[in-house]
Amino acid sequence: MTKQVFKVSHLSQLPEVASVLIGMLQKSPIMAFYGEMGAGKTTLIKEICHQLGITDQASSPTFSIVNEYADSKGNIIYHFDFYRITRLEEAFDIGYEYYFYSGFPCLIEWPEKIEQLLPKLFVKVSISTTDGHEGRLIEAEMPIT
Ligand SMILES: Nc1ncnc2c1ncn2[C@@H]1O[C@H](COP(=O)(O)OP(=O)(O)OP(=O)(O)O)[C@@H](O)[C@H]1O
Ligand SMILES: [Mg+2]
Repeated sequence: MTKQVFKVSHLSQLPEVASVLIGMLQKSPIMAFYGEMGAGKTTLIKEICHQLGITDQASSPTFSIVNEYADSKGNIIYHFDFYRITRLEEAFDIGYEYYFYSGFPCLIEWPEKIEQLLPKLFVKVSISTTDGHEGRLIEAEMPIT
């Protein structure tokens, strides 16, 4: 298990974190983002997508569980937000397996909601607020080295 810890005191430091996470994504395409409401999951995912050349706005997928983004070369990224699901069946209904086992990066908000459906190997990213919500502690754990 490889663990990286980042102390972020300003949004301007997120690009550096995102680039390390992109390196981890090359090894394991499933990345689960844990953290309270407002912790900064969408913001970090947005930065990752930006660095990967996605031009669509990666806004929080409010109306759907999964959003698909593509760069100019047709590389795909799936962005999930399971916050609103109340039953595991809703994940089956969207065909989550198709996405999780596609080999394309899957960036997942609220993975707690579908914990038992996550593949064995995934990158666990945990975000917590520090310094009265201004700062963030971001931890990333790789399942393999
Ligand atoms: N690293 C950071 N440092 C300071 N502020 C941040 C950081 N990351 C996010 N924020 C701010 O926190 C707010 C909430 O961020 P965001 O929407 O990304 O949270 P979230 O974890 O996706 O929440 P939700 O669970 O509701 O989807 C935004 O205003 C954003 O600018
Ligand atoms: Mg969000």
